[in-house]
Amino acid sequence: MTFPHINYENLKPLISEREIDQYQPEVDRVCGMLEEGTGLGSDFLGWLHLPSSTGDEILSDLENTAREIQRSAQVFICIGIGGSYLGSKAAIDFVLPNFYNQQSNSRGPEIYFAGHNISSDYMADLLDLIADKDVCLNVISKSGTTTEPAIAFRLLKQMMEKKYGVEGARSRIYATTDRARGALKSLADREGYKTFVIPDDVGGRFSVLTPVGLLPMAVAGLDIRSLIDGAKTAEEHYSRSSSIRENPACLYAVLRHLLYGKGKSIEIMASFQPALGSLLEWWKQLAGESEGKNHGGIFPASVQYTTDLHSLGQWVQEGNRIVFETFLIVESSNREVKVPKFEDDLDGLNYLAGKPLDFVNEKAYQGTAQAHREGETPNMTLRIQDRSSHSLGRLFYFFERGVALTGYLMGINPFDQPGVEFYKKNMFALLNKPGYGKGN
Ligand code: PA5
Repeated sequence: MTFPHINYENLKPLISEREIDQYQPEVDRVCGMLEEGTGLGSDFLGWLHLPSSTGDEILSDLENTAREIQRSAQVFICIGIGGSYLGSKAAIDFVLPNFYNQQSNSRGPEIYFAGHNISSDYMADLLDLIADKDVCLNVISKSGTTTEPAIAFRLLKQMMEKKYGVEGARSRIYATTDRARGALKSLADREGYKTFVIPDDVGGRFSVLTPVGLLPMAVAGLDIRSLIDGAKTAEEHYSRSSSIRENPACLYAVLRHLLYGKGKSIEIMASFQPALGSLLEWWKQLAGESEGKNHGGIFPASVQYTTDLHSLGQWVQEGNRIVFETFLIVESSNREVKVPKFEDDLDGLNYLAGKPLDFVNEKAYQGTAQAHREGETPNMTLRIQDRSSHSLGRLFYFFERGVALTGYLMGINPFDQPGVEFYKKNMFALLNKPGYGKGN
């Protein structure tokens, strides 16, 4: 079986095989636009061949830097927002054990994220938490001018300089930014920080396989070579054929586009593993910023089951019928836990005694998929093999390709995000930022 494997049985009869096949010429056209760089936003197609062009030199540099950080830090803080933190957080949560920060001694530093909000409580609590620990920072911003990470970096830089002195702090700060532009690049050059480059032609939300994602992952102890290798397998597979029947990224794009055309304007990505929660956040940014254009596009939402079956489950079952659901299922868990047998059976659970929790979880998924289908929430299932770096590399690339193709099928530019500037203009004017006040 090729992973991710898509089962779309529960989209029938809303979507027929004939309708899917009728899309083939259109899919050939949009795949051609992607491969030949003739579509909208083609200046930002660097992600397309990133896996196959990531060489040994950069991977070794990242691994050596990660080892240096692991040796000198009990805490590693990634400062960034949007595409500059969601991918690394997704990967670290996906691959590492739940509660990894509480088990970090043998593995590497505790990992925290900052600069993805402007909350004084969050920042003050973080500063308290790390006060007595040795810290390294990775400040990540493609533009180098984003307000949230810039504020967080000011505060953390100040803390580092107090703790280690100006020179000492410099050797513990790592910058990931544009090759030449932006305030962060100028600052990094002036201070002499070790710097990693985000390629010009890779947009923020497509940057997880660049040093933006790879340095934090390597520090957390993930096998970044295996991750890139997984993504490379997907790249080779998906660029070989645009056949909907052979290429799951094409199939995913077609199914989403067909569902959207039938009034299903919300896609709910559902997982049954808490470790996938941050991956769903990454996917929401990827899909939302790419497709939400011209007052259209599928709204990406997420739920964590079975937790949310006891809250949003009611809405999915019986609420407004404008949603479809995509289940993201992991085939094999890292660890097995079985339901114990109790002689008194007071809770009546002995019918499950000896059964792995995964068995129960799988039945919960099957029961949910069937109930939602019967309740007219069409659903499909993406199955992935396991929570390894390799599987995740494939999945990252699958979603990038699937979302880009959906955007082209919708006739929009999936690689820009003009809408995110609007709140900034208002906020800057309200803050009297020079150049944004009244009269500008
Ligand atoms: O996808 C995008 O381009 C954005 O969401 C950015 O990742 C986000 O705004 C952060 O930008 P920057 O890395 O320039 O600080």
